[in-house]
Order: sequence, then structure tokens, then C-alpha cells
Amino acid sequence: MELQQVDIGSEFHALPDDVLAERIAARKQELGEELLILCHHYQQESVYRFADMTGDSLKLAKHAAACNDKPYIVFCGVHFMAESADILTGDNQAVILPDLRAGCPMADMASLDEVAWSWKELSAVTGGDRIIPVTYVNSSAAIKAFVGERQGSVCTSSNAERVLTWALEHGEKVFFFPDEHLGRNSAIALGIKPDEIILWNREETLGGNSEDAIKRAKVILWNGYCTVHMQFTAAHVKMWREKDPEVRIIVHPECKHEVVAGADQYGSTEKIIQAVSGSRPGSKWAIGTEINLVNRLARLNPDKEIHSLSPFQCLCSTMYRIKPKYLLWILDNLVNREVKNQIRVDPDTAKLARIALARMLEI
Ligand code: 13P
Ligand code: SF4
Repeated sequence: MELQQVDIGSEFHALPDDVLAERIAARKQELGEELLILCHHYQQESVYRFADMTGDSLKLAKHAAACNDKPYIVFCGVHFMAESADILTGDNQAVILPDLRAGCPMADMASLDEVAWSWKELSAVTGGDRIIPVTYVNSSAAIKAFVGERQGSVCTSSNAERVLTWALEHGEKVFFFPDEHLGRNSAIALGIKPDEIILWNREETLGGNSEDAIKRAKVILWNGYCTVHMQFTAAHVKMWREKDPEVRIIVHPECKHEVVAGADQYGSTEKIIQAVSGSRPGSKWAIGTEINLVNRLARLNPDKEIHSLSPFQCLCSTMYRIKPKYLLWILDNLVNREVKNQIRVDPDTAKLARIALARMLEI
């Protein structure tokens, strides 16, 4: 059953920012060692400042797996990340998502029914070829379980090329979902020829492909995408190149291939942070990722010139749902031993999904 976000009440909605911050800090202190607040890099500053640990999807999954002494893990990120944390933590730990409406539109583009149906169609055409399923971590626990059951692996934006290499060593074909762009960027980086990469359009029979094209393909990409990273275009890359040749362009691999190909570097949010923070004073950057991270990098690196690659605000509106008032509501309840918004993956799904996550951590 889908959990629904309840209204937290006017008492929380009416609180001014400074009062919210004071009360969150006090609750954090009261809960002490029992509490772990994890924050993804796209969180807004008013929440991010309360993080015990921050990271990209891979780092946060590893943190959650390592912190087995924390009964309460408050996950300031999106639903699939909290699910992964629940899968990797013990039964004595509660993973909590402060606002249940914080989903990921890309993860919602691959339902279990659609993927299972497509898998059947694909297998019927490819006959004896071994297909390895690889799912980006931005997917539901049910999808991860589907992959675990079929000896596949999860990947994140920081290890997609490594996981794809592993998959191609273990099978003739890889079925990659849900992000077309991460899949294509990783496959091209590995030197796979463009005519061996095909797109699986989930609305069409055989994904809109001929049987021949499917038989020839090495990498089959689901047609999902990130609504935030799709907003960066090749025209933005061109604009910066013309404006200032000294500007280095770095983008997330969820961007379209033409954007990644035009950039100087690409990588996960963690890699973007490392590249920008480690660059020499006076460096100039145009960054193709979510605006909260770009603004934070600009604030933390006043000796550098930092811009968003796009002139428009590319905000992840679902990440943005995690607001201080929801965090406070969660912590107020925890102090009274009431766990709200716990993310629970059912044990059968968790067991299979853990196989796919564990394989990624091994690779
Ligand atoms: P990272 O793993 O690079 O943090 O990316 C997660 C994400 O959702 C990017 O849109
Ligand atoms: Fe999903 Fe894109 Fe938001 Fe990441 S930035 S959580 S992929 S919608």
C-alpha cells in the first residue's frame, strides 16, 4: 500500500525560519547518538546544514549500510534513496523520509509491470543470448529485486561504466534502465559503437525496434530521463564556449550525450564537488546539475567563478519537498518515540534487491 503524506498541521506551517532552525537543532541534540541525518547534495541549505553525513547516491547508501548502531535514520533525499537505505540497514533501524511526496520522476518511468513485460518481449527475440539487467539506483525497490533475481546489478552515476563493463563480460547484451542518458554516456565512454546501442521505447511493441536491431544490439536503453538534467542543452555549452574560453564545463551524466560530449568533464555529484573544490583559485566553472548544489559550490568557493550551465534555475522539485518544517515534525515525533514516514521495503523484495545492491558494491 502506498503511503500518503499527512498534513503536519498549521503549528508547523506557521513557524518562522529561525524558530524552525533553533527547534531542529535542539531536537537533534536531545536525540543524540540515536539519530543519523543523511542528506543528498541537492538538498536546500536550510535542511543540508543539519546533515550528519552528506553524499551522492553511492556514498549515502554506503553510509546507511555502515551505521548499524543508529536506530533512526532520517533520509533527506528522495524515495528510492530511502528504500535503498532500508534494504541495507537492520530490522532494528527505521529509515524515515520527512515528506513522502519526495519521489523521483525518473524512477517512476520504469514500473515493474512495464519492465517485466519488456523483458519477456526481449527474451523472446534474443533466444539463447544472455541478457544482463542493470538498473540505475534511481529505481524502485521492486525493480532492484527484479534485477537481483536475474543476476544483474544496480549502478550509480559514479560506477555505471564499471558495472556496464562487468555486465558485458557476463552476457551478450545489457538491458539498462531507467535512464537512457546515463546508459548511453557510459556505453559510448566504453567504446561501444552507436549502432550497438538501441533505445527501448516503453510505449511500443519491441520497444519500437526491429528484431534485427535487437539481435545486433549490445546495450538496450530504457527511455527514461531526469526532468532536471534534460534542461541542459548543447546550446548552453556553445554559449559558454563563446562567452569565455577559460570556463571549464562539468556536467552530470544524466545530461544528454551532446551535452556530455561538449563538456570538459562529467561525473556524479560527488565527483563534481571534488573537481570544483580541488581546482586552483581563479578557476571558472559552468556546472550542469541541480541548482542547490551549484549555489552551494559558489558559496563555498568564493575564490572561484561558478555558474550554472543553464541561465534558468534547474531545480529538483521533489528533493525540494524536504523542508525544515517536515524535518522538525519528524524529530518532534521521534522525541516522543513516534516514528512517522518510515520507509519499509517488504522482506521478499528487500532480499532480492539486496543481491543487486550487493553486487554493485562488490564490483
Ligand atoms: P548522484 O548519485 O550523482 O548524487 O545523483 C543522484 C541523482 O538523483 C542525480 O539526479
Ligand atoms: Fe530524480 Fe532528476 Fe531529481 Fe535526481 S535530479 S532525484 S534523477 S528528478
